[in-house]
Formats: sequence, C-alpha cells, structure tokens
Amino acid sequence: MTEQDMKVLFSREQIAREIERLGREISADYTGREIMLIGVLKGSFLFVADLIRELQVPAVIDFVRLASYGSGTQSSGIIEFRKELEMPIKGRDVIIVEDIVDSGFTLECLYNKLLLQNPNSLKICTLIDKRARREVDIDADYVGITMEDGFIVGYGLDYDEKYRDLPDIYIVE
Ligand code: IMP
Ligand code: MG
Repeated sequence: MTEQDMKVLFSREQIAREIERLGREISADYTGREIMLIGVLKGSFLFVADLIRELQVPAVIDFVRLASYGSGTQSSGIIEFRKELEMPIKGRDVIIVEDIVDSGFTLECLYNKLLLQNPNSLKICTLIDKRARREVDIDADYVGITMEDGFIVGYGLDYDEKYRDLPDIYIVE
C-alpha cells in the first residue's frame, strides 16, 4: 500500500463539524450530570481529545486498550484486552468512545464487560459507523459519520500502525 492508493474521504473540516454536533447532542442529553468517557485505544485517541473539548458538561476520562486485528484489514472476532480500566464505573454515566464500528465484535465485547460493573448508564459514541460488515446487532447511540464499506486510515485510524497521524481520513483503494 502506497500513498497513491489513498484518497481523502472525510476532510478535517467535516470531522470537526461532526464532532461539534456530537458535543452539542451529548451535552444536551447529560445536562446536570458528569460524564465518564472511556476511550478505546489506540484508534480513538484524537477523537476523544477533540470530543471532550466540545462537551459543555463536566467529563472525566479513562481508557481501555483492545485489539482484534492482526496486521490485516479483517476482524478476527477474537478480542484481547491489553489495558484495563483504572477508574471504577459503578454508578457513573459512561460513554464508550470508539473510532470505528465495523463487525461490532470489539464493541459488543467491551459493552457487555462494562455492563457487569453496574454503571448508572452506558452508551456508545463512535466517530465512524461502517455498516456493511456488521456481524453483531449493536448500534452506537451517537454516530459521527456513517459509511457503507471500505478501509480507511488517518485521524487515529491505522493500517499496520501507520497513518494515525494524518489530520484527514483517507480511503485505501
Ligand atoms: P470490529 O470489532 O470489527 O467492529 O472492529 C473495530 C476495530 O477495528 C476498530 O476499533 C478499529 O480499530 C479497527 N478497524 C475497523 N475498520 C477499520 C478501518 O477501516 N480502518 C482502520 N481500522 C479499522
Ligand atoms: Mg479501535
């Protein structure tokens, strides 16, 4: 894969606009409460950083690290926890912040695990909702951008650990 195979699909301006909108929606839904954001590393690191600054309600943050991909582009369905939560979530209003939902295996696994820890509420926010390859029945409560299919990189998303630093999101042809 070379840079010639990549085309901008979602610009930094579009990404910023959608995150502003998500910030408004979430802030309206959580008025008077404190949110706990749980970022799913590594892909969501830029999204979480931008989203938390668009919130008009207080928010605390923690991270988990999950891995389902080897170095290919297809989910294995086997999810490995490489970093656990550090803060208790019992009684908290929790929002999982994902970069992209594809098959849905990663989210389902994390969602069910967190639910067992008795948060007051548990919702899902994803920057990208990729619909075509969904294997489990799980839907995000807050969606930045919807797409059908295709492999994307940039703005936190990688191919073999590369391209996370790009400010725009590119489709790989
Ligand atoms: P799922 O378990 O198949 O939903 O996979 C979700 C994870 O796979 C995401 O959190 C990403 O880290 C990764 N992923 C899925 N699609 C893409 C993509 O198009 N580009 C980069 N990473 C992806
Ligand atoms: Mg991810």
